[in-house]
Amino acid sequence: MSNLKLAAKITHVPSMFISEQPGPNFGCRSAAIEGLKEIGRRCDALGVDTIVVFDTHWLVNTAYHINSRARYKGIYTSNEFPHFIQNLEYDYRGAPELGDDIARRAAEKGVRMLSHHVDTLEVEYGTLVPMRYINADGRFRVLSIAAWCPWHEMEDSAKIGASVREAIEAGNANVAILASGSLSHRIHDNNEAVAGIHTISDEFYKQVDLRVLDLWKHGQNKEFVSMLPLYSKVCHGEGFMHNTAMLFGALGWDGYAGKAEILTDYFTSSGTGQVNAVFPLAA
Ligand SMILES: [Fe+2]
Repeated sequence: MSNLKLAAKITHVPSMFISEQPGPNFGCRSAAIEGLKEIGRRCDALGVDTIVVFDTHWLVNTAYHINSRARYKGIYTSNEFPHFIQNLEYDYRGAPELGDDIARRAAEKGVRMLSHHVDTLEVEYGTLVPMRYINADGRFRVLSIAAWCPWHEMEDSAKIGASVREAIEAGNANVAILASGSLSHRIHDNNEAVAGIHTISDEFYKQVDLRVLDLWKHGQNKEFVSMLPLYSKVCHGEGFMHNTAMLFGALGWDGYAGKAEILTDYFTSSGTGQVNAVFPLAA
């Protein structure tokens, strides 16, 4: 039986916080929040104890990196969106052994990946925001992998995903993997940002995103991974969508035959396209 219990592409939009607060946008992201909470419930039902997050807010300019702190604990304010995410307290157990094994296996594939045990290496909000809804009580260990990779090859990110899968299968943890980030990610121009909190920045991006979701729903994953490099560029994929390359690398890349289940319908947020989608695993 596989130790990989759940795989998903998820949203982490900060407007989920706004959705929780009284005001004109109260409840606006309730479907997204509910989708994340449902992932948490499924993790419970599947006996998951560890969540690996491919985080498109952790920028790395060279090599691949894993935050293998034994414990993630701190108070987070986003330097990108300090008006949206302030003083978010977090405290999660890490998964250092799994992190080390992933890096070792990536190195065996010729991909430079470093596993860090540095208590001041902070966690980004691509990990922290979804954990707030999936893992509010810290019952799952967390392992954050950098996935904002501007100068990296998609093939290498697929190998990272494959290394994650191998390490999971070789270990004794029950694991969920989450590709945290949007579909298209062309945020609105600054002067349109406030009024555009619920809209896409260009219809083109939305139509391509919807086509991608059709491919996922129909299991046309070979077509999807072949379009992923150009899609990530033309539609400004978040972190260039290396999180998604890692996810599909773990699933089997173009050999993966699963048909995605859409947990939260496609929605547009601050110019970008978002979804919560679960990718079924072979029994
Ligand atoms: Fe983001």
